[in-house]
Amino acid sequence: MGQPSRGSRTRRGTFCQFLKRLNRSRLYIEVVASELSLDESNQPMMTPTATNSSLYQRLGGYDVIAAFVDDTYQMLRNDPRFSRFAARSVDSQQRARQLLVDQICHLAGGPCFYTGRDMKTSHTGLHITETEWNISLEYTRQALKNHGVGQREAEEVIAIFEQYRADIVDSSAS
Ligand code: HEM
Repeated sequence: MGQPSRGSRTRRGTFCQFLKRLNRSRLYIEVVASELSLDESNQPMMTPTATNSSLYQRLGGYDVIAAFVDDTYQMLRNDPRFSRFAARSVDSQQRARQLLVDQICHLAGGPCFYTGRDMKTSHTGLHITETEWNISLEYTRQALKNHGVGQREAEEVIAIFEQYRADIVDSSAS
């Protein structure tokens, strides 16, 4: 007497488990809803993960970096204003391309090492002008766009390049 029967203990246990499951589902729904929440203009808001992740991750990783670098090189090769840089072996061109991919990957926070020379050493004597610099950045912007890189990430890539402007551009060249 007074002791709950086995059956009712089991039922209570089942009910408690049901409440726990319900709570877990609610928590899951809240997390998903906050991830998918919309801002005032009905655009999905950046999740904390997307906001805090490295530039490398936000760019879309190594393949996207390699793709926009290749695209930029292709545009430079097609532009007769850059023909004086073309007289180099395929191997030298591929080496410079690979080093540039590694450099961006590294500076964007990716799992790469840059093993090339510093920018002053590798560009001194090429007499790169301010105009050539500006055109090459325009091609980079275009290539970033072609590969679906967002405005914010594109500006961060350009800002990485801009750090080297003084080392690459020859202020006495025209
Ligand atoms: C007008 C713009 C540019 C031109 C014409 C240019 C041209 C060149 C050339 C011809 C080389 C080969 C040098 C050699 O083999 O001795 C080179 C190497 C390289 N460039 Fe540029 N460059 C430009 C801008 C940039 C920018 C914006 C970056 C990125 C910050 C960059 C990164 C590199 C890297 C990583 C290498 C390889 C360095 C090494 O050989 O150790 N370049 N560049």
